[in-house]
Amino acid sequence: MLTRLYFTPVHRQEDSNTLTVGVNSSEAGSQQSLVSNESSASSLQSNDENIQISSYSATTWQLLKLCKPDWHYIFGGFIFLLAASVTEIFIPYFEGHVINDIVKSTSDTQIRDAIITLGLITFATSVCTGIRGGLFMVAVARMNIRIRNLLFQSVVKQDISFFDQSTTGEITSRLTSDVTKMSDEVTLNINTFLRGIIKVIGTTIFMFVLSFRLTVVTLISLPLIAIIVDYFGEWYKKLSKSVQDSLASANGVAEEVCSSIKTVRSFACESYEIQRYAKKLKITYGHKLKQAILYAGFEFTNEMLDLAITVVTLYYGGHLVITGQISGGMFIAFILYQLEMGESVEDLGEVYTGLMQAVGAADKVFELLDRKSEFTCNGTYAPAQLSGHIQFKDVSFSYPSNRERMVLDKVSFEAKPGEVIALVGQSGSGKSTCISLLERFYEPASGEILIDSHPISEYDHEYLHRKMALVGQEPVLFARKLEENIAYGHENCEFEDIRQSAIEANADEFIQDLHHGYGAYAGERGHNLSGGQKQRIAIARAIVRKPCILLLDEATSALDAYSEHLVQQAIKANCKNRTVIIIAHRLSTVEDADRILVIDKGKVAEEGNHFSLLAKNGIYTKLVKNQLLSTSKDSPQQDELCSDADQKSPTTPSLTTEEI
Ligand SMILES: Nc1ncnc2c1ncn2[C@@H]1O[C@H](COP(=O)(O)OP(=O)(O)OP(=O)(O)O)[C@@H](O)[C@H]1O
Ligand SMILES: [Mg+2]
Repeated sequence: MLTRLYFTPVHRQEDSNTLTVGVNSSEAGSQQSLVSNESSASSLQSNDENIQISSYSATTWQLLKLCKPDWHYIFGGFIFLLAASVTEIFIPYFEGHVINDIVKSTSDTQIRDAIITLGLITFATSVCTGIRGGLFMVAVARMNIRIRNLLFQSVVKQDISFFDQSTTGEITSRLTSDVTKMSDEVTLNINTFLRGIIKVIGTTIFMFVLSFRLTVVTLISLPLIAIIVDYFGEWYKKLSKSVQDSLASANGVAEEVCSSIKTVRSFACESYEIQRYAKKLKITYGHKLKQAILYAGFEFTNEMLDLAITVVTLYYGGHLVITGQISGGMFIAFILYQLEMGESVEDLGEVYTGLMQAVGAADKVFELLDRKSEFTCNGTYAPAQLSGHIQFKDVSFSYPSNRERMVLDKVSFEAKPGEVIALVGQSGSGKSTCISLLERFYEPASGEILIDSHPISEYDHEYLHRKMALVGQEPVLFARKLEENIAYGHENCEFEDIRQSAIEANADEFIQDLHHGYGAYAGERGHNLSGGQKQRIAIARAIVRKPCILLLDEATSALDAYSEHLVQQAIKANCKNRTVIIIAHRLSTVEDADRILVIDKGKVAEEGNHFSLLAKNGIYTKLVKNQLLSTSKDSPQQDELCSDADQKSPTTPSLTTEEI
């Protein structure tokens, strides 16, 4: 039926939570279907209700400012939008004329002229609509790319504590779905809004011109429709929120399981996880069922209203035609306008939802865009020579996520150029934290860290990290070729340098054995390599830069004793102009360091070389004893390997039980 005014739950995305009223039309929502379907649990939950008016207008203003560089596309789009909307309004009027001419069987020329006029208007509308659509799409694409770039820049420059406190899922959802939602919805909804407003005003004028009385009869029903929609809409919105929450929770299970599949498999928990996921989905199904019942109610109301409006319009309109107050063709034109108006009202309803979603998403994007890193890397000091003299002076520190707990308490030590300093101590004592502070991942709460008597904050960020290389406790490789991994961040690196550093890291042999050698793909986070192989690539990546400060945090823990020995020999041979800080649990790794610092509960408890510390008979001796006991109990094989390595390395004093 032509006057199919009805209620439509918006189904374009899973996060639909609004009902709109409008006319059934294939075109209705076609603008919206351009909106990407990317969605995420977090952004889905972002919805509108809590958005304050002030933040709404602030965000909208920020959004408009972001559109500025694309103003020429947007402006052009609006001009063609205006032209398309205005010409479109005339189409039903001329359609009515054509029908009238046909019904009245007037001359062929009159019919032909009317059809030509209609054709020309439709052609102009189509051209303008096409150009408008294209220009807006370009504006959306440009805006999308620009925001993503800005956001990525902002994310990458955040301090490390930001990453400690946010999940990767949250950050990527900001970069993908939220950006898409805000750029697509904003442009498309402003577009739809203007088009809708022009069409509502235009069609209403034409309807009044065609029949004042019929228009009043049609418009009288609008407040009733609005009340019903509002009532059901609220209900539907609550249900949609429950659906989204339950879906987010199910997604959480899926994400967790997929990212920890090896743990799940090793504990044979597949069935348990499948059931857990199914349970979550069952809750979603419950909410969806309620939604379906509500939807059925809508459909019923919709049909009834449709019928009521159709009956009233046809009855009264028919009466007007019969009594000669309006021609048949004009009555059909009126019905077409009525149809258009319903469609435009529907579009306007969707604009509100879309804009609210865009503002919700934009709020989060701007929060991240505007977030300032807790400390800045704006140092400029970059001397021609750096000797690598490290000083920790009364450094105290607590992690931003737990400010109360002091992880380092007035730590002071010094590492002179060419020295090898070892940090040992129980797990969780604060060794890696010292390295993190030296790398400037965090700022100390008090005290200072100096390199060559200059605070590290004064150094130029890129300079400092060119001079300092870290092999972390859990080295991460990138999903690139091995040679690219080794040369990471070291532009213009010759293949010979890559190979030489791989030889020093005792990695060359296994790399040569790989099918593609240095061109072999490391896999995501280096999954294609074993733990020890990954470590050796990470060591090669550090030494290829020829750093003057080398930080090795459990860098050889996954290597067998012989490989570790080879790597250490290579590092030692090259450490004349280099300060090396080594952290290791395997004490044989650090026993020939120039100085060993025993870190205990965030403090430097003991300091000295291997023999002087043994002589103290303190924490270090206890650590050595415990390790020797566990090694001899658990791994006689390793002892053999150790002694094998020691034979090959007469300079390395080996620990024996007698010695202790
Ligand atoms: N990002 C973080 N946020 C909050 N607390 C942290 C963080 N990283 C480490 N910690 C805490 O700081 C303390 C010191 O950790 P650190 O990693 O320095 O220990 P570690 O001596 O290197 O231990 P291990 O030998 O096990 O590597 C630990 O209690 C740990 O729980
Ligand atoms: Mg550690």
